[in-house]
Amino acid sequence: MKIAPFKLERYFAKYEFSAKYLLSSSDCDGFRMNDILSMANIEELKLWQNLQLGYTESQGLPMLREEITTLYSNISSDEVMVLTPEEGIFVALNCILSKDDHVICMAPSYQSLHQIVSSIGCDITFWLPDEEKGWYFDPNDIEKAIKSNTKLIIVNFPHNPTGYLPLLPDFQRIIDIAKKHNLILFSDEMYRYLEHDSSLRLPSASDLYVNAVSLSGLSKTFGLAGLRIGWLTTQNHGLLKEMATFKDYTTICNSAPSEVLGLIGLRHKDLLIEANLKKIKRNLNLLNEFIEQYNHVLSWYKPSAGTVGLAKLNVDIPSYDFCEKIAKESGIMIVPSEMFDFGNKHIRLGFGRENLPEVLDKFAQNFI
Ligand SMILES: Cc1ncc(COP(=O)(O)O)c(C=O)c1O
Repeated sequence: MKIAPFKLERYFAKYEFSAKYLLSSSDCDGFRMNDILSMANIEELKLWQNLQLGYTESQGLPMLREEITTLYSNISSDEVMVLTPEEGIFVALNCILSKDDHVICMAPSYQSLHQIVSSIGCDITFWLPDEEKGWYFDPNDIEKAIKSNTKLIIVNFPHNPTGYLPLLPDFQRIIDIAKKHNLILFSDEMYRYLEHDSSLRLPSASDLYVNAVSLSGLSKTFGLAGLRIGWLTTQNHGLLKEMATFKDYTTICNSAPSEVLGLIGLRHKDLLIEANLKKIKRNLNLLNEFIEQYNHVLSWYKPSAGTVGLAKLNVDIPSYDFCEKIAKESGIMIVPSEMFDFGNKHIRLGFGRENLPEVLDKFAQNFI
């Protein structure tokens, strides 16, 4: 299989571990091993200490799958498949699609959500937002884009890179459209549980619709990206079986230590989420004040969920050049919208990291 380079990941490969400061990360700071083990009770510590390092159950550790179901209202542990988040996109899309299918996919988006679709040979219609309306994605546009061979709708809420989160009636409308036209819905929910106001949290698509496949994982909301643990949930048992069969060609099974650490983390999820949300809200306020102060350079719609937002550049320089200049002069890595194939007038800003105040001080020196 031939597939185009993943621009965002290649950009991160260049800068993530060499730039002094990061202002575009979509994950929160990774918790330390000790943070997780010090939360563990005696039974959980025993699981860790007595862990056998053999192959693991392909669908995922049963206790971990059971714990994952607490994030859903209508999903049982046999409707969960544990894999890495990125692998989840690859496996699901390869199982759902054939080359003659038409797909409707949000854009801009995390590249694998549409690149894998293209690599299979499918026809894609991009579902675009209205920036002037706060990155509003109008569900009616999905219905207008449906063709006789449409098979799948791909959404990602809370959204990377805009931070957009629809209200429940709009989300329900997307589900209703999928149901009415008998389409599969792939719902990337990697940032779910990071709503800045918890009353805005959407149900998981996999709870609402039997032909939805939802993706989630430990990387963003839980600050455990290094465990490489994510999961797919679906009530469509036929599709789940196909995805399990496909996984025999990717990783076969998950890392045993990651599953146990992930289980302990998830059992104490409230502490992890609370710590991340506290940092996110503090940072978001600082970033918003910063953007208001430097409005001649940047403007944005303040995100209502997640760890990232997309700011508009109000200076006449392509965003790639702007970001390269900032990286060179201040050691700050910022992702330009070219990495999302979304023009050259925006930059993605991330606010899940502890050192954001220090990074903003450095960033400000460029505008004085
Ligand atoms: C929307 C979205 N989906 C999936 C992923 C993949 O997660 P991971 O990098 O943990 O595999 C990311 C990572 O940035 C993402 O932003």
